[in-house]
Amino acid sequence: MHMEGIKIMNNLQTYFSNLLIWNVKLHNYHWNVVGKQFMPVHTFTEEVYDNVFEQYDAVAELMKMRGKYPLVTVKEYLANASIEEVSAKDFSVEEVLKAVKKEMKLMKELAVSIRDEADEAKDPTMVATFEGYIAYYEKQLWFIQAILKD
Ligand SMILES: [Fe+2]
Repeated sequence: MHMEGIKIMNNLQTYFSNLLIWNVKLHNYHWNVVGKQFMPVHTFTEEVYDNVFEQYDAVAELMKMRGKYPLVTVKEYLANASIEEVSAKDFSVEEVLKAVKKEMKLMKELAVSIRDEADEAKDPTMVATFEGYIAYYEKQLWFIQAILKD
């Protein structure tokens, strides 16, 4: 495998591991958010974890189609993820939105690197898939920014 391919795989496994850990973490926010705006944030986090869980399977299948094994154990996800778990507690609405904003920015940056590396490696399907994820994050970041401005 040439250099670009190796770089893509590292970022891809990190991105992929984040999807699993983030899915779990988003459920923590979804269940434990408190405050007057509980309902919209409860619903919003559910929409995000649904998207993240769909990505989890899609990204694994992209790896399989390229002859690679996606990581499959939670132990490996914890070792490779750059998103960290948090314990259960009451989260304020602002706390959840700020945390999701931070995590979304991190995922968007990773997605941009993977997209650029895939472009260099002449892999149009990977480029198109990650451009879709980047567009999704941009839209969600706009929503979060608008709510936090209130
Ligand atoms: Fe739920």
